[in-house]
Amino acid sequence: MTQAPAAPIKAIAFDAYATLFDVYCMEALAEEYFPGQGKALTILWRQKQIEYTRIRSMSSQFRTFWEVTRDALIFAARSLQLAMTDSQRQHLMNQYACLRPFPENLATLEALKAMGIPLAILSNGTHSMLDIAVKYNDMNHLFAHILSADSVQKFKTSPEVYQLALDAFQLPARDILFVSANAWDACAATWFGFTTFWVNRSQQPEEVLDVSPTATGRQLSDVLTYVRGLHG
Ligand code: LAC
Repeated sequence: MTQAPAAPIKAIAFDAYATLFDVYCMEALAEEYFPGQGKALTILWRQKQIEYTRIRSMSSQFRTFWEVTRDALIFAARSLQLAMTDSQRQHLMNQYACLRPFPENLATLEALKAMGIPLAILSNGTHSMLDIAVKYNDMNHLFAHILSADSVQKFKTSPEVYQLALDAFQLPARDILFVSANAWDACAATWFGFTTFWVNRSQQPEEVLDVSPTATGRQLSDVLTYVRGLHG
């Protein structure tokens, strides 16, 4: 784990998809429907979903993350020439609404909360997607705020989305640790002014964006080690 010197933080905001919730666990159901193509479909689905959020934000053509996620799934299936039925699409989307957290996440969040640090989710996901996922995984008690890009009708990496955390916590950006497993999100959040932690689960190279996250680790529990270090 790399660590840059930073002051103790006063709140933590977590990205949701790929950070708290495992989007790649969709592969099992995708593989059941399309043998041999589950992994490719899951990866392309995620890539297209993020691409569509950017196109829509940049072109002021907002649709909810639920719609964007559905549209990206349709595109990914077409691109791989898979004959996806409406029922298969619906089932894949329903499973997306109930994603599971990565194994170490619940214990990590509990430990951070026990340190007295208020926690939030800050995500492109709709309020309803986030509420369902949080309730489904019995995580309601962990978060002081669940913040959705819906509120500003723009997606990350628009500064308006990151601003939601400052408004909710009533803190300056540097006092908030923003945690994401998406390198682009961690980089843009660093530009915004947050103290940031990139959970680099799949050992990706650093982005070449003239900015680096404040700290990097391999899994969410590394955030706990980092925060304990900051708080001495
Ligand atoms: C989110 C996506 C980007 O939760 O992972 O905002």
